[in-house]
Amino acid sequence: MAETKRVLTGITTTGTPHLGNYVGAIKPAIAASRDPGIDSFYFLADYHALVKCEDPERVRRSTLEIAATWLALGLDTSRSLFYRQSDIPEIPELTWLLTCVTAKGLMNRAHAYKAAVDENAKTGEDADYGITMGLFCYPVLMAADILMFNAQRVPVGKDQVQHLEMARDIAQRFNHRYGEHFALPEAEVDDFVATLPGTDGRKMSKSYDNTIPLWLPEKKLRKAIMKIKTNSQEPGEPKDPDSAAVYSVYSAFASPAQREQMRQAFADGIAWGEVKQQLFELINGELAGPRERYEALINNPDKVEKELEQGAERARALSRPFIAELREAVGIRRLG
Ligand code: TRP
Repeated sequence: MAETKRVLTGITTTGTPHLGNYVGAIKPAIAASRDPGIDSFYFLADYHALVKCEDPERVRRSTLEIAATWLALGLDTSRSLFYRQSDIPEIPELTWLLTCVTAKGLMNRAHAYKAAVDENAKTGEDADYGITMGLFCYPVLMAADILMFNAQRVPVGKDQVQHLEMARDIAQRFNHRYGEHFALPEAEVDDFVATLPGTDGRKMSKSYDNTIPLWLPEKKLRKAIMKIKTNSQEPGEPKDPDSAAVYSVYSAFASPAQREQMRQAFADGIAWGEVKQQLFELINGELAGPRERYEALINNPDKVEKELEQGAERARALSRPFIAELREAVGIRRLG
């Protein structure tokens, strides 16, 4: 029997999914969920959301939107595990066990924490200004997410690679002290992921305010695509696809044959407006069906809730016995 790989990733529930998330993370993850050689775990990282967002309604709304997005796009929940982090009480429990073997010095080196400290230095604030223990301990919670299910591969963006190194480090310390309980996870970074450009040509990212939301209604989607930045070349002038944001976005959605045709059209001097129209049709064609399913789910949150509860039940069938083993290992035991 071929060995199945256990793949796990979390999505922080603070925002609305955009095209960059779709191309870079959601689409490949859903494809993986249909691959019999992969055992996939996808979860909504709502505890992580609290580190970045203190707006309760936003956390709730984002959780619903992200869950509905994954379901609408065809995540196979019979094959993969899809759950909400906060439905698994064994995760915060494991977080504490890991916190107790994590060196504070290791956390001091975390990029997000260091960036906050540097920012304080720049603005003349106290080094700790605005820094919560949630931000400081964020990597331990993330390690618990991963180690709880002994995931081997963790698809993440480049900015998360350090957190994976920390998870390995923490797992090794725990294993060293209490015996071999954890597999060492590896980050899986897809370089293509970082490169879907936004409307201004830079990487599509919430922090640049250049995103195109995934579930815009058709007219607004078209409008947003029409706003993607181009140069001032006229219709008829040959254009370079490789320096055009519209082409990068097009190629993320197109088949190899469509890509070839579009490159030829660039060489033949296609007008920017026409490229954008074709881009709109391509994206809209792919999203129109899922968009209807998405709307239906958003209007029926109970259905989404049920899916998540079922996912949590299946996840806890794994996490409950494992946390019992770990409690035993550290000496938290029945006395009789
Ligand atoms: N920190 C990740 C991010 O911001 C989200 C996340 C939380 C995660 N827990 C995880 C990713 C576990 C992978 C594995 O993108």
